[in-house]
Amino acid sequence: MTKSKENKFLDLGQRGRLSLNNKLNDLTGKEWIKFTKTWFVHRPPKRKEDEVLHPAKFPETLVKEFITFFTKKEEWVFDPFLGTGSTLIASGELNRNAVGIELQKKYYNTSVRRVKKGKYNSTIIPINGNSLNAIKLINMQGLPVDKFDYVITSPPYWNQLERNSLRQTKRKNSGLDTKYSSDKNDLGNITDYNNFIEFQAKIFDVVWDLIKAGGYLTIITNNVYNESKLYPLAFDTAISLTNRNDKSWILKDEKIWLQDDKPLIALGVNNAWVGNRHHQYCLIFRKEI
Ligand SMILES: C[S@@+](CC[C@H](N)C(=O)[O-])C[C@H]1O[C@@H](n2cnc3c(N)ncnc32)[C@H](O)[C@@H]1O
Repeated sequence: MTKSKENKFLDLGQRGRLSLNNKLNDLTGKEWIKFTKTWFVHRPPKRKEDEVLHPAKFPETLVKEFITFFTKKEEWVFDPFLGTGSTLIASGELNRNAVGIELQKKYYNTSVRRVKKGKYNSTIIPINGNSLNAIKLINMQGLPVDKFDYVITSPPYWNQLERNSLRQTKRKNSGLDTKYSSDKNDLGNITDYNNFIEFQAKIFDVVWDLIKAGGYLTIITNNVYNESKLYPLAFDTAISLTNRNDKSWILKDEKIWLQDDKPLIALGVNNAWVGNRHHQYCLIFRKEI
């Protein structure tokens, strides 16, 4: 290798070689390749205190892996369905700046408490409101729109929480929330499947205006089983976001999260096929203009 080529790399021992020309992240080539496998097994640590109240939180440990791949230190991350603030915690721990919007005051309050506890060096802003108004809400914080380098989020899985009866009964008996709210602006309260898909796409039109050109968007979602039939929610999410008039995302890939820590339940035994759905889709889109 010539001297000038050699200078483009830093040798980081076990981690491998870091290219000083890396445009996307702070990973070495070895770490980069490892993340590109399209499936992974992730066993989240047990949830703490008030995080348990929320019916569908994603683990910070998982979000951290995505943020580490799709951003560099000090870049800006956004989550339009913040819940208990996992994306903000993950971003703070990785020295990224982050903003998140959550409709429900009680989950927003949880995120505020968790962020305060974290004492991060970066700017971390939880906002209470409807993500359909994200541009106005973010402007009110004095932040310029079109600031974000990366968006990672998990929207409500249609109105699935109202139907997942076995799990819901257990949560109800323990005094935990079995749905996010009764708010009409809550995506999880839209009963009609096609209306849900359209409303969800409208929120990602708003996200389009907030993210920089070339920025990536990761949506964690799933297909859902309802009344003896599978609704391809993850696939319809991909189709709907890639078919907008002037705000069409490019679908780049999927990473499948295999949940091999979930117990098998006797579903449909001796009668008919009902799957134990132990995986989720992490859909990767990019704004390319
Ligand atoms: C799947 S949860 C997200 C959980 C989050 N990733 C966490 O780790 O806690 C979806 C969240 O979206 C919120 N939500 C639903 N509709 C919304 C809207 N229009 N604007 C903002 N948040 C909304 C719900 O209240 C719920 O907390």
